[in-house]
Amino acid sequence: MKDALAYTAANREKFLNELLAWLSIPSVSTDQAFKDDCQRAAEWCADNMRAMGLENVAVLPTGGHPVVYGDWLHAGADKPTVLVYGHYDVQPAVMEDGWTHPPFEPIVRDGKIYARGATDDKGLVMCQLKAMEALLATGGAPVNVKYLIEGEEESGSQNLQRFISNNLDKLKADICLISDTGMKSASEPLLIYGLRGLVTMELTVSGPKHDLHSGIGGILHNPAQALCEIIAKLHNPDGSVNVAGFYDDVQPVSDEERAMLNLSNYSRQDWEERMGDLPEWGEAGYTMIERTSIRPTLEINGIAGGYAGEGFKTVIGATARAKISCRLVPNQDPFKIFELVKAEIERITPPTVRSTIKLHDTGYPAITPTDHPAARAAVEAFKYHWETPALFARMGGSIPVVAEFQKQLNLPVILMGFGLPDSAAHGPDESFHVEMYDKGIDTLVVYFHELAK
Ligand code: BES
Ligand code: MN
Ligand code: MN
Repeated sequence: MKDALAYTAANREKFLNELLAWLSIPSVSTDQAFKDDCQRAAEWCADNMRAMGLENVAVLPTGGHPVVYGDWLHAGADKPTVLVYGHYDVQPAVMEDGWTHPPFEPIVRDGKIYARGATDDKGLVMCQLKAMEALLATGGAPVNVKYLIEGEEESGSQNLQRFISNNLDKLKADICLISDTGMKSASEPLLIYGLRGLVTMELTVSGPKHDLHSGIGGILHNPAQALCEIIAKLHNPDGSVNVAGFYDDVQPVSDEERAMLNLSNYSRQDWEERMGDLPEWGEAGYTMIERTSIRPTLEINGIAGGYAGEGFKTVIGATARAKISCRLVPNQDPFKIFELVKAEIERITPPTVRSTIKLHDTGYPAITPTDHPAARAAVEAFKYHWETPALFARMGGSIPVVAEFQKQLNLPVILMGFGLPDSAAHGPDESFHVEMYDKGIDTLVVYFHELAK
């Protein structure tokens, strides 16, 4: 292990330059205009895997953007096999969103790497790859590893869910390891043991056959207004979701677990840094961390209708649309929740308009047992660079395939991430602290050794 850590210390600059090169490829998965870039980002990853000594490296088709696979299985049959998952695709990014530097021309400024994907997830995937590079360059890894880096996480991983069912043997392992989450602060690491599930859908409210001159206003129900009336009814005044049956399957959380989770609750200062002086909002009876982790939510992610461009148009739009998502917790089923929301919307749609609701994507919620030896090993590994012991936390975001790794491959999933709250994942000026990159790599070197024990 000493040799591997000496290798990481001696190769910081090489590691950084490699990450910058990968970040310059705009692998935006949701937009077909970037299809070739996704392919290039996958090839780049495969080349990097080959150069660092992984074997059986291949860019494999999934029906969508390809996955990159590579393994090293020479630690011995008595050693565990770790399936490392991550994603090379990124969220869209354009200067107009408020970037101060082009999102795909990575730069290092004040100790941070700025680029789309810096923290979510190329920077963290590189932590996983460079830790393994250091081990392979200094005598081999203490565990067997299989790397699976996909290109559609940011658009729902629907193809990967199928890829897994078609490759159960190839992906067979003892644990799944993922770096795609964050820490509480630079001095407070987190071990994430729960992620929320997700179901996304599109609601279209339609009225007249065509857009109309709004001079006719007063005799028909404007679809944009009807949409707002429907949406307004989907929450109760106490912040809870007003969909019949929505909470029925929610697994109760013990007082003990709630107390543990609240150790990573947001402080007033965290809140103000991110939200300014806005008062908080949410489901009554739960703390902020509980609202974003152990409680399901319903959110409006986009609204369109009428004319919202430059200037003004006195028009009644023929349709209005909303993108709606629900974050889910154990034991909610995304398909069942979709049916419940659909039924509720149909029930509350006024007779003066029509609603159509279409299912978009689904991902199940996931929880990993905190007493698993692989989780304990992670706590140990964090100690190499951090004095504050890692807290066990559940996060509000989703990684749709995590539940599939559990269900289809029966794997416990360990989530060790190194992003910080100011990293702006999905936002403008996304960044990754160089210090966290370096510490992340070392921590994973140590973790692979801990796992071998
Ligand atoms: N890395 C995130 C997931 C995440 C975010 C985990 C915050 C923990 C904390 C991932 O890349 C992501 O953004 N997932 C999407 C999935 C969706 C597009 C299907 C999400 O959660 O919205
Ligand atoms: Mn991610
Ligand atoms: Mn993301």
